Amino acid sequence: MPKRYLVTAGLPYSNGRLHVGHIAGAYLPADTYVRYLRARGEEVRYICGSDDNGVAIEISAMKAGATPQEISTRFHQLQKAAFAGLRIEFDVYGGTHQPGFQELHERISQEFFRRIHEKGYFTKRRTKQLYDPQANRFLPDRYVRGTCHYASCGAPGATGDQCDQCGQMIDPLLLVNPVSAITGAAAEVRETTHWHLRLNDFEQPLRAWLEQKQGQWRPNVLNFALGQIKQGLPERSMTRDIAWGIPVPLDDPDAKGKVLFVWFDAPIGYISFTAKLCAAQENDWRGYEKWWCDPDTAIVHFIGEDNTVFHTLIWPAMLMADERHQLPSAVVANNFVNIRLGGDAEKVSKSQTAEDSPVWIEEYLNKGFGPDALRYYLTAIAPETARTAFDPQDFVQRNNGELVAALGNFVNRSLTFAQRYCDGKVPDVAAQTDVDRAHLARGEETLAKVGALIEGHRFRAALEELMGYARACNEYFSAREPWRTRKDDSADCAATIATCVQAVHYLAVLSWPFMPGAARKMLQMVGVADAPVQWEVPALESGRPLGEPEILFQKLEADCMD
Ligand code: MF3
Ligand code: ZN
Repeated sequence: MPKRYLVTAGLPYSNGRLHVGHIAGAYLPADTYVRYLRARGEEVRYICGSDDNGVAIEISAMKAGATPQEISTRFHQLQKAAFAGLRIEFDVYGGTHQPGFQELHERISQEFFRRIHEKGYFTKRRTKQLYDPQANRFLPDRYVRGTCHYASCGAPGATGDQCDQCGQMIDPLLLVNPVSAITGAAAEVRETTHWHLRLNDFEQPLRAWLEQKQGQWRPNVLNFALGQIKQGLPERSMTRDIAWGIPVPLDDPDAKGKVLFVWFDAPIGYISFTAKLCAAQENDWRGYEKWWCDPDTAIVHFIGEDNTVFHTLIWPAMLMADERHQLPSAVVANNFVNIRLGGDAEKVSKSQTAEDSPVWIEEYLNKGFGPDALRYYLTAIAPETARTAFDPQDFVQRNNGELVAALGNFVNRSLTFAQRYCDGKVPDVAAQTDVDRAHLARGEETLAKVGALIEGHRFRAALEELMGYARACNEYFSAREPWRTRKDDSADCAATIATCVQAVHYLAVLSWPFMPGAARKMLQMVGVADAPVQWEVPALESGRPLGEPEILFQKLEADCMD
């Protein structure tokens, strides 16, 4: 068992708004995992922040007529607010180019680069690169489009770094019919100098490391990474000819005007933000070593599917080359969530999806629906093994049919009953029957099952267990008929309601990782104080005062998402 956990979620590029796919892919499952671990009493830090460097930000700025700093800070703040609105709570939300973080981030990133350079894992190479003669600049990989060069794929619309269709790394010079994504001009080939990380030097250790993870990691993640190694890992340039980013820290005239590749510095953000957190909490940024260098810490990365190559191969190779930090214990990758608006499921996109669509988190929150309903739905459709679709109709139906009609209904009927007929106190359990005890035993089992599923990163299955218990609670209530026994067997009625109150207590703790707002309300209703939630459900003694019953979930109108 690890002594502590460092959990990260992929750093979002700070040039756009967050949508449901981002949340379902990384930030929500990581938040769920972290809430659970904390409730188990584990020492945890949840690290995230914005990915501010790189060409995507530079180009967004160009299009908006703003500076990269302005763009990245604007979206950094919007994204931070969207996370807070969904109650996704990081210990630190940094930014690779944000005030207060940029300086330390740059220092740590440059030190990484220099160490890897000194150890001889870079090849300095004069290379050919695609150039946009109209914009007068080299074209970053992401800003070249063409047809995927793998014979097995050949899809159009691949970018110079990756083909979204087959997920493989692209060599931009091999792209068929490359054009500039900035101006649309046909791309030309010109020469430039770059430093390439020799990934092939790490094929053996990476394979050995990944093979140890068989049976622990999701098979699709492992198979993908091992498949890439089998094909051979090409060297990858870790420097770029752009103006926005971290200067290449080499005393070499060829390094002038060049910056680190954004995928080199971004994952180092996990480290530099941890260091910043330690500086704030312990007054010593070096405290980060406890999290990154001690093998008793488990490092768990949550990411979207398009980040898999970087987190399972390139980042671990960087860590191996640098030799000071641990490798991740787990990389939990989720697939994309598409959206279904009437017809077929499609990708959420800046240009295609309506600006006021509730798939944008900011818009969802502006509608005032509250975080729990969305957290619930996105976990229920979590794309853990395949892509799934966000369907606004389905969202409303599941909110009404599951949260309101099953979970909310049981909690409400139990607590209003206790308020009205049991003096607002936990009733006497003296007459509890085997049926009552069995029902509570099932709560205890559910607690264990849900915990084990969350530990195994199976959030969707965990949520199904929770809802299974909620349904069993309604069946229990109906079978025990407290409205009838109230008149002819008050001891039996008391035992039933005491059991229901305790069942709500189970549901509260079970809900905490998934729906923290509803969980808090349930705890308040069963009279449990506002203390940190623990993954245990002690019996509530008879006579203990209950809180005011409250409505847990809002019923939604069919057209509310239009
Ligand atoms: N910004 C990248 C994306 O949105 C993710 C970066 S993850 C990190 O796809 F590891 F590099 F931080
Ligand atoms: Zn392809």
